[in-house]
Amino acid sequence: MNVQQNKSDLGAALAARFSDGADLDVDIAGESASRLMPLAGRGSVRQFKDTPISPDLLRLLSALALAAPTKSDLQQRDIVMVTDPALRESINLLIDDQSWIAEAPAMLVFCGNNRRQRQIHEMRGHPFANDHLDAFFNAAVDAGITLTAFVMAAETLGLGCCPVSALRNESEKVSHLLGLPDHVFPVAGLAVGWPAARAPISPRLPLGVTFHENRFSEDGIKDAIAAYDPSRHYEVQRFVEDYGEDAGYGWSEDKTRQYSKPERADFGAFIRSKGFRLD
Ligand SMILES: Cc1cc2nc3c(=O)[nH]c(=O)nc-3n(C[C@H](O)[C@H](O)[C@H](O)COP(=O)(O)O)c2cc1C
Repeated sequence: MNVQQNKSDLGAALAARFSDGADLDVDIAGESASRLMPLAGRGSVRQFKDTPISPDLLRLLSALALAAPTKSDLQQRDIVMVTDPALRESINLLIDDQSWIAEAPAMLVFCGNNRRQRQIHEMRGHPFANDHLDAFFNAAVDAGITLTAFVMAAETLGLGCCPVSALRNESEKVSHLLGLPDHVFPVAGLAVGWPAARAPISPRLPLGVTFHENRFSEDGIKDAIAAYDPSRHYEVQRFVEDYGEDAGYGWSEDKTRQYSKPERADFGAFIRSKGFRLD
């Protein structure tokens, strides 16, 4: 692949991703452009080959992920790799409304961990004076950052991944199965495997909506979303029994139908039961 080819691949991926991304074709060298391709052209994978992944490789990817930035170097995130078939089966049974998850060769669970911080306070004899929302928030964000870093490392090797927040529909049971103590909580699972098919590029909202310069702006948001909607295609429409079939079903209809029903309304109670104060 020559230098020009690398650049045009990047441009094509970004054009597929952002309808207003044509001006992203900045002057970077072709070789650098190809290094950005794994991110520009990525997509979540939900269909995998049967080929197993060695726990050693998952451990390596986890180590790389744990090298990601972490708030104040507090390192409030852990990864649980699920290798015990019986445990995996128990987790699969909890999330049986998404059958592809059980077919994924590997499953990891990314957890927020504010417990270690409290433990070192005990060890050092200093008071823990930050028992409020920030303690939960920082650990959750750290776990999310680490998950992203894992995905980027795995996708660079050609592996496919898909985060699984569905696991939090049963936070308490998952927590029990994984033996998560107080102040440790699941943020998301991650299904990993060798892709059976190339993941499509999922178009994102125009940069004009989600990227701001100097000051937050919502100028033109309605028109931008209306223009974005038809770029998204859904095989199944949600809650047709309540809202009917919609010929113009797009992103905003899908997302508003999804969030017109309660999801994980008990999550706050679960996090409080883990010992967090959320005020
Ligand atoms: C925290 C998090 C949780 C997710 N949970 C699920 C899930 O439970 N099931 C699923 O199919 N996809 C899940 N996804 C994947 C998103 O649906 C996907 O990232 C989004 O549709 C954009 O598609 P793309 O990753 O292919 O660009 C999750 C993604 C994130 C970041």
